[in-house]
Amino acid sequence: MTLERYDFKAQHIRRNMAWRTIPSPDDDDEAIHQNLEAWDSMAFLHAQGAGAEFYRIEQWLAGESKIAPWELEEVGSVKGKSLLHMQCHIGADTLSWAREGAKVTGLDFSPNAISEAERFAKILKINDAKFVVSNVSDAVESLKGEKFDILYTGRGALCWLPDLQEWAKVCSELVKSGGILYLEESTPMLNALDIEEGTETPRLGLKYDLFNEGPISEIGEGSYASPEADIERTTHSWEYRYDTLLNALISNGFMIESLNERDELAWDPWPEAEMFEPSRPNYWRLKENQVNFPLSFTLKAKRL
Ligand SMILES: C[S@@+](CC[C@H](N)C(=O)[O-])C[C@H]1O[C@@H](n2cnc3c(N)ncnc32)[C@H](O)[C@@H]1O
Repeated sequence: MTLERYDFKAQHIRRNMAWRTIPSPDDDDEAIHQNLEAWDSMAFLHAQGAGAEFYRIEQWLAGESKIAPWELEEVGSVKGKSLLHMQCHIGADTLSWAREGAKVTGLDFSPNAISEAERFAKILKINDAKFVVSNVSDAVESLKGEKFDILYTGRGALCWLPDLQEWAKVCSELVKSGGILYLEESTPMLNALDIEEGTETPRLGLKYDLFNEGPISEIGEGSYASPEADIERTTHSWEYRYDTLLNALISNGFMIESLNERDELAWDPWPEAEMFEPSRPNYWRLKENQVNFPLSFTLKAKRL
């Protein structure tokens, strides 16, 4: 199996481009506006340009699913259920759920990403898929009060949100009573690490403060799916911890049903260090000569 290696978190890209830390904006709205510009600039690249290989668009259009086997198992049958994919990007995961039988709605703040998602829905003739341009914080209004059986999100979504309490409140208004919220994300442990500088062989060390509430603000070039791409981006991302995430959900009407950690991740965070290897399409794991630790987790919560 040949799989592309790639970078994901902007703050970890240290290859051909110099990503550098910049002062954070005074308010989160400005940070989110700059993130929107950054994401808008990547949509075409990921759907139809050099990043499409990373996204396995060709294989996906030919029938490969973006949904991991454990996601299918933990979410259970989605046949005939309404599913909202928050922060759906170019809609590949969303439309994979539609192929499983869900009636899908994708939401993302990037108009360019949503138009790529709509284009894919047409190509795949998934005519009842709906895509909506909206910031997460305006999702309830944008979806006109509609409630869903399943809210699906993650794989690089939470780090773009400054306030998990606000996010969980929005989620609580979007899921029907008895419905579920399901997400897959990188672990806080992984997000705190980076490759140490000045060592002979690549070694991971603690770098990012998980208790820091402000954003990590950086400027650089390229995309995680196409590091060579000629685009400059300013990004602001936030760390999250299990306590802030779980407490936000619990205090907004969710009951945690399961939390599972895995030694597989939907991206290779440090391709230049050659510490990871492909484990299956769309997933990577640490090589055998590395100390294993949880890279990703899935969380399932029921709306009371
Ligand atoms: C890494 S992608 C989501 C993961 C998806 N599995 C993928 O890679 O295709 C993150 C998405 O979050 C969206 N996003 C970031 N901040 C957002 C916000 N405040 N409101 C809505 N969408 C947001 C971006 O536009 C982007 O499409």
